[in-house]
Amino acid sequence: MTLTLAVAGKGGVGKTTFAALAVRHLHESTKEVVLAVDADPNANLGTKLGTEPSRTLGGIREELLARSEEELPPGVSKQEHMDYQIRLAITEGSGFDLLTMGRQEGPGCYCYVNNLLRTIIDSLSTKYRYVVIDNEAGMEHLSRRTTRASDVLFVLCDRTKSSQSAARRISQLADEMKLQISRKALVFNSLDPGASGPPVSSLEGFHAVYGVRRSGMMLSRAEETESLADVPRTDPTFSDVAKAVESERLRG
Ligand SMILES: Nc1ncnc2c1ncn2[C@@H]1O[C@H](COP(=O)(O)OP(=O)(O)OP(=O)(O)O)[C@@H](O)[C@H]1O
Ligand SMILES: [Mg+2]
Repeated sequence: MTLTLAVAGKGGVGKTTFAALAVRHLHESTKEVVLAVDADPNANLGTKLGTEPSRTLGGIREELLARSEEELPPGVSKQEHMDYQIRLAITEGSGFDLLTMGRQEGPGCYCYVNNLLRTIIDSLSTKYRYVVIDNEAGMEHLSRRTTRASDVLFVLCDRTKSSQSAARRISQLADEMKLQISRKALVFNSLDPGASGPPVSSLEGFHAVYGVRRSGMMLSRAEETESLADVPRTDPTFSDVAKAVESERLRG
């Protein structure tokens, strides 16, 4: 069984940081190779994981659309060709495989190719024990249903009212869209270093609430390499992300 964790929330709230540390925690505690999916068109999950993507699925989709059936190698169906291309698009990192979605669709009819993509990603996901999806800010990815089947949706927020309202709207939209999400967890990010937990212990629409403290190292990394690959497990942000992910993993 695969456990899929998706990360959502408004802009700049810490989604990619959470996703990258979640990937690291899952690998380091289980030794499994984790599938990391960067679903943000402004991809930077790879950078935070200390690697760079080679190709994006958006790019592959464009190439496929531009290519007619006749141009494919003889005896190869479009699905087989795409399947092969996707395998080429996976970057192998240390403890994870990274799949970068890239730009979303432009003008033109993408339904056929999008459906193919979903089928392939769904079947690819089953080969991994853990999948972590980093989403773009806002809610569009919910409407586009890239987040459609997840075991846990982590919605990040900070202490501001606007960010918490955004988190609630994401939760409501996920319900309205009838997305297949088993659990929704609210995460307060960048809490004071002295905080002993999230400011509220429960919130309507969420099955759990977690708190993640901010850390000086996260801030300095953002200014320097950006890679979180060597952040120690004792870092307050990392240890809080690990705690939240572990608590959800053990339920799964
Ligand atoms: N717990 C934390 N402590 C300190 N800095 C943090 C923490 N979480 C995130 N940051 C910093 O906040 C900034 C935004 O983080 P991040 O890129 O993870 O957010 P995001 O939600 O993915 O943004 P976007 O919406 O642009 O994708 C980064 O500079 C990051 O280093
Ligand atoms: Mg991000």
